[in-house]
Amino acid sequence: MEIHFENKVVLITGATHGIGKQLAHDFGKLGAELILTGTRPDEIKELNENLIRNNRKNIKYYCADFLSEDSLFNLTHELRKFSKIDVCINNSGINRIDYIYDTSLTDWSDIINVNLKAPFVICREVSQIMKKNGYGKIINIASIFGVISREKRSIYSSTKSGLIGLTRAAAIDLAPYNILVNCVSPGFVLTDLTKKTLSETEIKDLVKRIPMGRLATPEDISKVILFLSSELNTYISGQNIIVDGGYVNT
Ligand SMILES: NC(=O)c1ccc[n+]([C@@H]2O[C@H](COP(=O)([O-])OP(=O)(O)OC[C@H]3O[C@@H](n4cnc5c(N)ncnc54)[C@H](OP(=O)(O)O)[C@@H]3O)[C@@H](O)[C@H]2O)c1
Repeated sequence: MEIHFENKVVLITGATHGIGKQLAHDFGKLGAELILTGTRPDEIKELNENLIRNNRKNIKYYCADFLSEDSLFNLTHELRKFSKIDVCINNSGINRIDYIYDTSLTDWSDIINVNLKAPFVICREVSQIMKKNGYGKIINIASIFGVISREKRSIYSSTKSGLIGLTRAAAIDLAPYNILVNCVSPGFVLTDLTKKTLSETEIKDLVKRIPMGRLATPEDISKVILFLSSELNTYISGQNIIVDGGYVNT
């Protein structure tokens, strides 16, 4: 049994950096046609020019900033042009940390918009396409902070718990159409997001508390997503798969 994505159209949000970039690389290697997003117009332009130069016609980046509703709806408008989307990975995410008594409503709205509203709107859109085709896999990238938490994570934890709830509910609605919906919840992954929210000392202390004795790599997370998105997954739906090297059990 092999995992491959030939003849599959795969949407990955936030595919320019971190976990999403790894996912784009891995799905691309396994033959998928890719719809990828990022927020920076210059970077998107350059990435698309590189793809054209290398004759990679089945991969395209779209500029989509989920802080803006217009930008989110521009993306869903583009998605409607696809006759099929087989796999959708809601990976884009942001975090701004502060104690609950110091958090601003701007941060609340921004983080909700990127981490929860956008996945909801995109799930709603792609599920209509998947329903017509009688096939689909949706993976929402939540976090261990949707299940446990840590100081200064009130907004982030709210969004990730919400995403786990959305996944459970959507899985029930979509199961009759052969659409499987799951969450993957990473622990601590060495990406820009982690470097922005944890100091080097905090990272060193964390490593001592992770049973596996190291942070996750984007590859550790990607492998689980590849399985859940593949045809090997025929019966897992509505689940939240924690990929944390054993951390939440300590
Ligand atoms: N890193 C971890 O330890 C960890 C742990 C648990 C869960 N997660 C989750 O895993 C996912 C990926 O995290 P990561 O660590 O790979 O993050 P990252 O390295 O910071 O990359 C985030 C990706 O999301 C995109 N993004 C950022 N702001 C956006 C916005 N306003 N609208 C649309 N897209 C936006 C970024 O695009 P641009 O760069 O083009 O702006 C980028 O491609 C997130 O949902 C995160 O919450 C991460």
